[in-house]
Amino acid sequence: MAYPVHLDVKPKVKGFFDPATNTISYVVKDPASDACAIVDSVMDIDYAAGRISYTHADEIIAYVRSEGLKVEWLIETHVHADHLSAAPYIQEKLGGKLGIGRNITVVQDTFGKIFNEGTKFQRDGSQFDRLFDDGDIYSVGEMACVAIHTPGHTPACMTHVMGDAAFVGDTLFMPDGGSARADFPGGDAGTLYDSIQKVLALPDETRLFMCHDYAPNGREIRWETTVGEERKHNIHVGGGKAKEEFVKYRTERDATLGMPKLIIPSLQVNMKAGALPEPEDNGMRYLKVPIGAL
Ligand SMILES: [Fe+2]
Repeated sequence: MAYPVHLDVKPKVKGFFDPATNTISYVVKDPASDACAIVDSVMDIDYAAGRISYTHADEIIAYVRSEGLKVEWLIETHVHADHLSAAPYIQEKLGGKLGIGRNITVVQDTFGKIFNEGTKFQRDGSQFDRLFDDGDIYSVGEMACVAIHTPGHTPACMTHVMGDAAFVGDTLFMPDGGSARADFPGGDAGTLYDSIQKVLALPDETRLFMCHDYAPNGREIRWETTVGEERKHNIHVGGGKAKEEFVKYRTERDATLGMPKLIIPSLQVNMKAGALPEPEDNGMRYLKVPIGAL
């Protein structure tokens, strides 16, 4: 399937790097209007202290206000396991619809069981305003956008193409970073390879924006590349690397990786569209730690 990419529409893309989780959040502005989308926001958490704050989100909010932008969409490329989303906080302040991939329901089902959520927790994605299917077209102002289902890292991963810019989530890293792990529940290395091929089939000039960068080999943090660069130089899939070779490498590498520091709070909160648990009768909110489940 060929996805429509509008190379002549060049949104202004402003990245906000979060050093605590190596995540990049984006504000994407329609060139023809004041409309914008915010992709993958981050809420700050001091997990050891049980304290949350919104420094990173406030920086984004200040930028949106200073540029006079109107938020139409808050996009989550996937249910992140390494940071908590600030989407509800930003939505309350700036508006916009919150969207994620349709397969959020699969993620909700899997982790609803792991966290032993009761029947009050709906596993139908209804906590979000929009569930995207593969190939869904939507707009930010006058800018045409398309959602591409790119599972493998997680079942709900989507790549969002806005004009000539694609937000790949954890489908790819920068060429010298390779690809994201595929060993979380519902992840699959072969599926990830197939999804990466969908992104690499976009036009060479398509700008690609990463969700993470870990500054490999001590270089500075970078988050923007192109399809052409990834296709030629990505260390895991570039130069036409075969699927079997990728799957073998990815599987062996994933077996050596520990769980992300914030996976427990991140999944519990992000599968509910960023909502914190309801306060208990003493007014405090609590997160659960399942012992031995991950
Ligand atoms: Fe991720």
